Parts: sequence; structure tokens; C-alpha cells
Amino acid sequence: MKPYRKHVLVCSSSDCAQYGAEDILDLLGQGLRERGLQQEIKLTKTGCLKECEDGPIVIVYPDGVWYSRVAIEDVDDIIDEHLVNERVLSRLLHHRMN
Ligand code: FES
Repeated sequence: MKPYRKHVLVCSSSDCAQYGAEDILDLLGQGLRERGLQQEIKLTKTGCLKECEDGPIVIVYPDGVWYSRVAIEDVDDIIDEHLVNERVLSRLLHHRMN
């Protein structure tokens, strides 16, 4: 098996769930399957990442990019712009690790 190219983490704990994280997780999974990317991009549901008031939080590794206040309308852009075209979405950027 080839190593994953990226790992996407979605907080689905209490506050993020209240803001729609489960729908975002479902749409990300659906979008990756539709584009045939599920073998190269790993999607994981996480517990609280301690940024609750800025949720839903979505993290992309190895890029170290944290997105906040993600909405379902942002899912296609996260996939097509960031995961496929390697362009970080500045409008959603929470912070970026060095
Ligand atoms: S509930 Fe998502 S960061 Fe805390």
C-alpha cells in the first residue's frame, strides 16, 4: 500500500458537532470518494482540539494547516483547492504550523 499523501482531521466533538462538523466530515468523505482520492488522502474524525469557539476545525497534514469555522459550502474548495491543487485557503486559515 502506498503511503497517504495527506491526512485530514476533522474535530467532531461537542462544539464542532453543534456547528455542523458531522456533515462536513460526511461531505469530505463523499467528495474524496467521488474524486477517487480515498487511497491517497486519509480522513479521520477526532475529539476536541481545544479550539472550540472557532469550530468546526479541519486540519490538513503534513501541511500543518488548521482551518476554522469551516462550513459545508467550503468542503469542495478544501478538496479541490488545497488537497488537489496545493493552494491553502486563506479565508479559512486559523493557523499554520512551521
Ligand atoms: S469541540 Fe472541536 S475544537 Fe473543541
